[in-house]
Amino acid sequence: MKYYVKTFGCQMNEHDSQILAGILDNYTDEVMEVGSEKNELTEDIWQADIIVVNTCCIRESAETKILGYLGSLKKYKTANPNVILVVCGCMAQESGAKERIKKRAPHIDIIFGTFNLPKLQDYIREYRHYRQFIYDVTETPGLEKAVLPVHQDIQAFKGKVNIIYGCNNFCAYCIVPYVRGRERSRSIAHILDEVKAIAAAGGKEVMLLGQNVNSYGKDFSDGGCHHFATLLEEVSKVEGIERIRYMSAHPKDFYVELIDTIAALPKVCKHFHLPLQSGCNQTLKDMNRGYTTEQYWHILEAIRKKIPESSITTDMIVGFPGESESDFQETLAFVDNCAFDDAYTFLYSPRTGTAAAKREDQLPEEIKNQRLQQLLEIQNKHSLANNQKLVGKEQLVLVEGKSKNNQSVWTGRTDTNKIVNIPAAIGEIDYTGMFMPVKITTAKTWYLTGEFIR
Ligand code: SAH
Ligand code: SF4
Ligand code: F3S
Repeated sequence: MKYYVKTFGCQMNEHDSQILAGILDNYTDEVMEVGSEKNELTEDIWQADIIVVNTCCIRESAETKILGYLGSLKKYKTANPNVILVVCGCMAQESGAKERIKKRAPHIDIIFGTFNLPKLQDYIREYRHYRQFIYDVTETPGLEKAVLPVHQDIQAFKGKVNIIYGCNNFCAYCIVPYVRGRERSRSIAHILDEVKAIAAAGGKEVMLLGQNVNSYGKDFSDGGCHHFATLLEEVSKVEGIERIRYMSAHPKDFYVELIDTIAALPKVCKHFHLPLQSGCNQTLKDMNRGYTTEQYWHILEAIRKKIPESSITTDMIVGFPGESESDFQETLAFVDNCAFDDAYTFLYSPRTGTAAAKREDQLPEEIKNQRLQQLLEIQNKHSLANNQKLVGKEQLVLVEGKSKNNQSVWTGRTDTNKIVNIPAAIGEIDYTGMFMPVKITTAKTWYLTGEFIR
């Protein structure tokens, strides 16, 4: 049997898809006599017997795109009525999703939510036997205790590991706590097993995943807040792993001692992604973010003082309900001061069920768009200026492969997560997965260019 997996959304979803693929690699169904067949991931959707769509609902635009995609799957079912169409992930878990999906894509066979990843085999087996639509968004406990197979990435030099599921923060705009449930940390032993497996398969970089990695272990019996630091120390001991990244860290829990831990661990990348969302205290309060701009600034200063070579990136939302022109001006001024290396900027999107969606002071789209442009202008200036500081310097780059757009260019990342493009060296060694010293020659807003140092 062949299966195809399409993923929308964040790195967590990408990793969940690797697990879904891992489960399908191991799928057996003796009654249907496919148990002996080897199940295989295919890149060609027309070849697939099972199509899995792992969805996101963080913004309305994501949902619109996904609903369109689900509608378009009809042609595969028409061509092959035996194909099984599966929808899972955050959008599947949302209330009312079943109706919305069925209305737009009645051909979908199985819809299941974020708590039920381990049951994918059962659903498929059941569907093959009864040929009846399956819908399951039960909040089944125990996901964090499950040991699930992970499909080996083609980019085997990099791997991802979930360390904590869910979120307790309920930022006023955000749907994640509703579709991913409360925080549940995985055991250090399970995490280390997965990191070691990545290293054993040739992995050099690991990304530790969670909606708020700083909350890692707060749900353990001692309730301590040191567990994330301990985890970084333990993962650092895994031989073969040279770079450790994590995503996302919440500024409200980013205490200064953690910066010391990171500074002392050479394998932990000196890249801090700290979503700011707004640079205005009133808006931050309305967003329920749990910190002020002063507290955020304190962390920023501490990072830059203790680790001057670090890069700092952020997420920003413009047009949150009630954000006045002067609130927004405060945000612009604060972002200008922060001088981030990069920012992911979003137009506020109301999500049904969240606190902010109920507010009556929603802003018109054209104001949101104008603000986004203003914010981008300031941020782009800093992205470029920060990148320019690296021109002439040497950076250690983990080469990820040839550039997608240009086969005569290698591309990789610095420890600080900056993209470096390197015109391909003649002689054709495959540098993929290798750490290479690179001299930076030019800087653009979004990437650097360099040459291998011989
Ligand atoms: N847990 C992560 C965020 C995950 S969502 C964290 O707190 O850092 C990624 C980003 O999407 C958020 O940081 C936020 O900037 C954006 N986002 C979330 N909900 C949104 C909404 N309703 N509208 C617009 N952007 C949103
Ligand atoms: Fe959403 Fe806030 Fe949780 Fe991040 S911390 S997932 S933005 S509720
Ligand atoms: Fe990620 Fe989207 Fe869910 S951003 S957590 S896949 S809503």
